[in-house]
Amino acid sequence: MTTDHYLSAEAPGAEPAALPTARAPGTPLHVQGALLAPLSGVHGALLAPLSGVTDLHMRRIARRLGATATVSEMVAAEDFARGTEEARLRAEGEGVLPHVVQLAGCDPRWMAEGARLAEANGADVIDVNMGCPAKAVTGGQAGSALMRDLDHAERLLAAVRAAVSVPVTVKMRLGWDDATRNAPDLARRAERLGYAAVTVHGRTRQQFYTGRADWAAIRAVSEAVAIPVVANGDVAGLDDARACLRESGADAVMIGRAAVGRPWLVGAVAAGLAGAAIAEPDAAARAELAAEHYEGLIALYGARMGVRHARKHLAAYADHAGGLDPSERARLVTTTDPAEAARLLRRAFEAPVARSAQQAARPESQAARPATRAA
Ligand SMILES: Cc1cc2nc3c(=O)[nH]c(=O)nc-3n(C[C@H](O)[C@H](O)[C@H](O)COP(=O)(O)O)c2cc1C
Repeated sequence: MTTDHYLSAEAPGAEPAALPTARAPGTPLHVQGALLAPLSGVHGALLAPLSGVTDLHMRRIARRLGATATVSEMVAAEDFARGTEEARLRAEGEGVLPHVVQLAGCDPRWMAEGARLAEANGADVIDVNMGCPAKAVTGGQAGSALMRDLDHAERLLAAVRAAVSVPVTVKMRLGWDDATRNAPDLARRAERLGYAAVTVHGRTRQQFYTGRADWAAIRAVSEAVAIPVVANGDVAGLDDARACLRESGADAVMIGRAAVGRPWLVGAVAAGLAGAAIAEPDAAARAELAAEHYEGLIALYGARMGVRHARKHLAAYADHAGGLDPSERARLVTTTDPAEAARLLRRAFEAPVARSAQQAARPESQAARPATRAA
């Protein structure tokens, strides 16, 4: 690994460039491919692919607020190539630049076909999923199951590489289990095939999400390849990101679960890593972003599906905002009425603001009692 390749088109220390909200038709590929241009001095922070979570609107918001890049939810390559509606929605990238589509599958031909189609539909980067631990995925020999047979994994990577002209990347775990920590080998094979970057989640498949991600173990990958390495797992803020980069020797971090209900977190970490001041949005701005996300999902999926799809986001926004009592929260995640969900979401952000304003307005005698009075 070298430290002079970065997943950012921004110059070191520069203000993030204004992001286009839609890809200009005919934009030359080499401009879009600047995502992977070698730059020095900047460590990036990417939004991780989270199936059922990192929908189009979450990615748009995260990217607009400074995430180095975002990755779509995994898209089953065969479903996408066959044109299913769910796969199409997962691969949506309108207004997200660069638009990284992650494909999952085990058959090189379907993966190649899915990649070709994704590129034709505007993907700027194709990412291959070799990390998903879910039984439904590994049972079909996809996701992290591919790490059990690196020769097959390599054939699949080669097929995807050959199918497209945009950059290709791969996301993996440390290995299938403790006895086969073969991520460095897989990363070397990807590099030889012309892959532009690899992401490593610092757990084995058999660990699923238990324990702590082993950032130091990612170092073996960083030392095995010269292409950019992105380290992933349990990064929840700037201190974690710095420690993760130090221990892993990676070029960038990828943040998943910690960004749910806080899509601005990834940009804040990216800014912090670049040495810029971290300007996280205030409560009012967060409320607006959450509402934008929610309304976007209703528009994308329709009212019935949208309100269901939005539930995990609504719960996470409300939990971080802290403004709902348990019965309101329960209502927020069960209501099928989009207007009621929107009202409760607003309330989640308003209530703490109103409460703190009330406290501030109280006469001093009624304000929080000093500890000495109770003693
Ligand atoms: C709900 C959920 C869905 C996920 N979906 C995907 C996926 O579609 N593709 C993928 O490569 N990884 C997926 N992952 C793994 C994450 O991208 C990431 O590797 C993992 O959550 C560790 O990072 P974190 O600790 O920052 O969340 C998923 C994880 C979770 C919790």
